[in-house]
Amino acid sequence: PDAITVQELANRMAEKAADLVKALFKMGMMVTINQTIDQDTAELLVTEFGHNIERVSDSDADIDTTYDVDEEETLKVRPPVVAIMGHVDHGKTSLLDALRGTDVVRGEAGGITQHIGAYQIKTKGGEHITFLDTPGHEAFTEMRMRGANVTDIVILVVAGDDGLMPQTIEAINHTKAAGVPMIVAITKSDKPEFNPQKIRERLLEHEILVEAMSGDVQDVELSAKTGAGLDELIDKILLQAELLELRANPDRAADATVIEAKLDKGKGPLATVLVNRGTLKVGDILVVGTQSGRVRAMLDDKGRQIKEAGPSLPVEVLGLGGVPMAGDSLTVVETEARAREVAAYRQEMATAKRTVQAPVNLENMFSALA
Ligand code: GTP
Ligand code: MG
Repeated sequence: PDAITVQELANRMAEKAADLVKALFKMGMMVTINQTIDQDTAELLVTEFGHNIERVSDSDADIDTTYDVDEEETLKVRPPVVAIMGHVDHGKTSLLDALRGTDVVRGEAGGITQHIGAYQIKTKGGEHITFLDTPGHEAFTEMRMRGANVTDIVILVVAGDDGLMPQTIEAINHTKAAGVPMIVAITKSDKPEFNPQKIRERLLEHEILVEAMSGDVQDVELSAKTGAGLDELIDKILLQAELLELRANPDRAADATVIEAKLDKGKGPLATVLVNRGTLKVGDILVVGTQSGRVRAMLDDKGRQIKEAGPSLPVEVLGLGGVPMAGDSLTVVETEARAREVAAYRQEMATAKRTVQAPVNLENMFSALA
């Protein structure tokens, strides 16, 4: 039988993924937005939301992936994608740096740190974990922009010498709404003022009952400074990932999501993308949001040229005709003509939408006609 992720189904139904998660919960199923559900369940949900199951494609102008679903037997385990969130100065970047320091591959490569918005580590046990860097106060809008559909697990960073702060609470609410499981990291355990119990009690007020208090939300005390607790955090991420049964078909044309994009003076438009399924290859013809292009080269998070990128791997893609937006989806198509056609159609739609949304007055009516 075919399988589809809750997020994909939500996109196709134009409903909020969190609402689908809630509906599934009422049906007695505990799933997150990135988990797959079978066709029967999907159809049940579709009916539940009052949609017609027999949905036909809108037109040939855009790419319609409605029935492009991977067969169960093609799915293979993929690494988890983990976003780190929390209040300003609570130690997110320090934790990311410390985790990067545990990367056995990076150790071998001589510790070159390349800044891209996402990176993957290989643990001592040989498993891979992808981390998303969502710095500062932009974290929430950023995560929304990138589509919560790329995040499998959220690590809520709380400084153990401080408390729950406005952005901690915002992160909690956002994570709950996205239906993504959370691991609480109580950081700065090396500090004399460290008081994890106080944090755990405050979390209760937000209906988060951590393991240390016999709840089911994993928590870990750690220090980015001394490295204490990092291995435990990695173990907990891997355990959570196992529970989520994250899988994707690596043997097909790639679908990916843009994490960040910019215009580089020398290299042209650059997009950091995270592969959702399939394998992205040098030479692939792409449509990315309203842009088209061909993969000229790919760089991994260590700045190394790579030829192929499989599920959950973040890569920087060179060769697009323009700069896409964070959250845009990337699709591989057969021909350059098709890529240009789809991109042009989307640009047209985007322009039409902007024109409709603009307040109506004589001045912009004329500029819209011009
Ligand atoms: P924003 O990006 O501004 O939101 O901050 P952040 O959450 O990334 O915090 P950052 O990692 O920059 O750390 C803030 C301060 O806390 C820095 O001065 C760090 O050196 C310090 N810090 C972070 N982690 C630890 C820790 O485990 N122990 C100690 N003692 N200090 C830490
Ligand atoms: Mg930071």
